[in-house]
Amino acid sequence: MNTTFLKACKGEAVDYTPVWIMRQAGRYLPQYHTVRSKGSFLDLCKNPENAAEVTMQPVDFLGVDAAILFSDILVPLEKMGAPLEFREKQGPVFPTPIRDQAAVDQLGIPDPEDDLGYVMDTIRILRKELVGKVPLIGFSGAPFTLATYLIEGGSSKTFFHTKMMMYKNPALYHNLLDKITDCTIDYLKGQIVAGVQALQIFDSWVGVLAPCDFAEFALPYVQRIIKALKEVSKLPVIYFANNGGSLIDQSLTSGADVLGFDWRVRLDNVVRMVQGKVALQGNMEPLALFLPPDKLEKRIQMVLDEAKGARGHVFNLGHGIVPETDPEQAKLAVHLVHTLSRKTQ
Ligand code: CP3
Repeated sequence: MNTTFLKACKGEAVDYTPVWIMRQAGRYLPQYHTVRSKGSFLDLCKNPENAAEVTMQPVDFLGVDAAILFSDILVPLEKMGAPLEFREKQGPVFPTPIRDQAAVDQLGIPDPEDDLGYVMDTIRILRKELVGKVPLIGFSGAPFTLATYLIEGGSSKTFFHTKMMMYKNPALYHNLLDKITDCTIDYLKGQIVAGVQALQIFDSWVGVLAPCDFAEFALPYVQRIIKALKEVSKLPVIYFANNGGSLIDQSLTSGADVLGFDWRVRLDNVVRMVQGKVALQGNMEPLALFLPPDKLEKRIQMVLDEAKGARGHVFNLGHGIVPETDPEQAKLAVHLVHTLSRKTQ
């Protein structure tokens, strides 16, 4: 197996910089649409054979150094008892938002095998298909990001209801976050038992929090998850705090082995701040994949140069690849990361 990704996560020496791409399985790939057209997005997540097939597509086509399980951060919430819909053009919707104690009390803690067996089956299929290839990354949402979907009832621009609950009814907010955290610990432990080889925790919306609110309402739950995982396994954990450039010193206490960064920060500044305590992942602007090849090469070289001196570097985009991306450009980017980093090691 190609272990370059796992080595970089642990800060061990590598021959070149490993790369994977957030949302690498998805709508920019024509072969994804072929499988996706058989049903809804949730149908795809719940069909282990098909979910495994789309997971493998970017591994084979792009030549990335890790596979990421095809699923969604929101599927465990559905099994907590919050009905979930994915609507065309609108994205995820929870038609009954969770905003009072009765609603929180109704939420349960799903069993990974009994309730989310389709995810565990997908992992088991993938580990067989990935033999001799690359490691498999499992994932979850971070409790704050997951809570925003439940409280807002879907995606949001202002996170008004979430912040109102934090400020006006903190006991209720912490109650909800505690339940989501318990669910996430069981879910990620289930993924470990099923066979994932690294884990990423996505905190997609945490960048909307003031640092003091991050300390009180988000970070402790991430710390609790990672501590629980570290009690049962040594697998690398990546914490991706999107738009979290002002939360770096605090994120260093998350317990993660790797911190993921979006494109709004300069990695050379991050390298100085983290002082070798963690490895770094990131952080090319996703739309830089639309640059002409010579400029794309320069941009990739810039990210590689900025990450020099890091304890370890996993190249990635600063957020998910967008559906309009030319797959050939993504493939070229992976090739360039490999060839340019071999020269500079
Ligand atoms: O990265 C991968 O290739 C693995 C699969 C994966 C998906 N979602 C597939 C997906 C992963 C890791 C996620 C995580 C996820 N889901 C996050 C965190 C990462 C991030 O982007 O910040 C979030 C916030 C979600 C919630 C979610 N799922 C939204 C807001 C949407 C709709 C918006 C959008 O991008 O379309 C989804 C749908 C979704 N998840 C799609 C895919 C491939 C598109 C569904 C389709 O085929 O119609």
